[in-house]
Amino acid sequence: MLRWDEPVSGADLAAHNGAMAVARPVVLEDAPTVAASTGAIGVENLEMGASRIRVDDKKIINCRADLNQLVPFKYTWAWDKYLAACTNHWMPQEINMSADIALWKDPHGLTPDERTIIKRSLGYFSTADSLVANNLVLAVYRHITNPECRQYLLRQAFEEALHTHAYQYVIQSLGMDEAEIFNMYREVPSVHDKAAFSLPFTQELCDQNFKTGTPEADQRLLRNLIGFYVIVEGIFFYVGFVQMLSFGRRNKMIGASEQFQYILRDESMHMNFGIDVINQIKFENPHLWTTEFCDEIAALIRAAVELEYRYAVDTMPCGVLGLNAAMFNDYLKFIANRRCAQIGLPEQYLGASNPFPWMSEVLDLNKEKNFFETRVIEYQTGGALSWD
Ligand SMILES: [Fe+2]
Ligand SMILES: [Fe+2]
Repeated sequence: MLRWDEPVSGADLAAHNGAMAVARPVVLEDAPTVAASTGAIGVENLEMGASRIRVDDKKIINCRADLNQLVPFKYTWAWDKYLAACTNHWMPQEINMSADIALWKDPHGLTPDERTIIKRSLGYFSTADSLVANNLVLAVYRHITNPECRQYLLRQAFEEALHTHAYQYVIQSLGMDEAEIFNMYREVPSVHDKAAFSLPFTQELCDQNFKTGTPEADQRLLRNLIGFYVIVEGIFFYVGFVQMLSFGRRNKMIGASEQFQYILRDESMHMNFGIDVINQIKFENPHLWTTEFCDEIAALIRAAVELEYRYAVDTMPCGVLGLNAAMFNDYLKFIANRRCAQIGLPEQYLGASNPFPWMSEVLDLNKEKNFFETRVIEYQTGGALSWD
């Protein structure tokens, strides 16, 4: 038996591998293959002496080549995003929340409308990021058959855990009623409806009998990816992002706002990764992108815009922070047009304009982002935004 903390000699390795080679026929004779019993790609029995992996063997879905070998890379965009995500590492407890705590506890610090927005944002996001994480781990990962994409998915899953941690940290710091916030997706209709919209995308892929490999099943996987990367992370998060970043622009709740800036930076990369995956699946499987399927996806995006607008109205019955619900009517149509263009669908809302150009500035700059009157460098280590 090899132990991780012991120096390993070549002889030890040979003995270990020899033991593995002796044990292997027993496994093959006595048990069904792991792949047959779990349906999962990547845990098949090893094929001793099989031919080596070539780049051309790799496919983003329905690939039968060994998934446990990260290289040779085929999708360098996935590996580059993994590296960039690691460079952007941060932790929620590194952000100073003391000014937020003082403001939240001051009875005159915030208006009731401002408090409603903060509670609703934490209520929606605190469970939404768990839904995203579950979708990655329980539904998406097993069907993406490429190791460099899986490497990014593992990093993304950790980031989703950090986001849920960040919301919990803010909720705890402010001394909020945790049960009220975490139960909001079962108690407040506008929060519930967005969560309920996204859950079926996960449920249908979680079915143990679900396998990709037919046009219908592959379209279901595509629908899931669009449902989460384009709709949840690309539309449903954006009223909350604008609202919480607007507090920071007004020098209120600066700690919570900074947490959301980090999260927005991560989410922006998640969405771009997902869009690359979607477009790669389309490129390798053009037969999936039928007129009927495009119509179905466009209808889903329009329904999502409607839900997100209802959420905006519910969270902002009156104008607050220089925002009002009508502005979000324009904004959501504007970003929905962008999402459609990114996956090759026609724009659904002709002439929609962006009432929050500062959000574009945050999102569109790749190397260097201007947050408010300060500046943050995207690629850095050490878990801190760099403020000049
Ligand atoms: Fe997240
Ligand atoms: Fe995300």
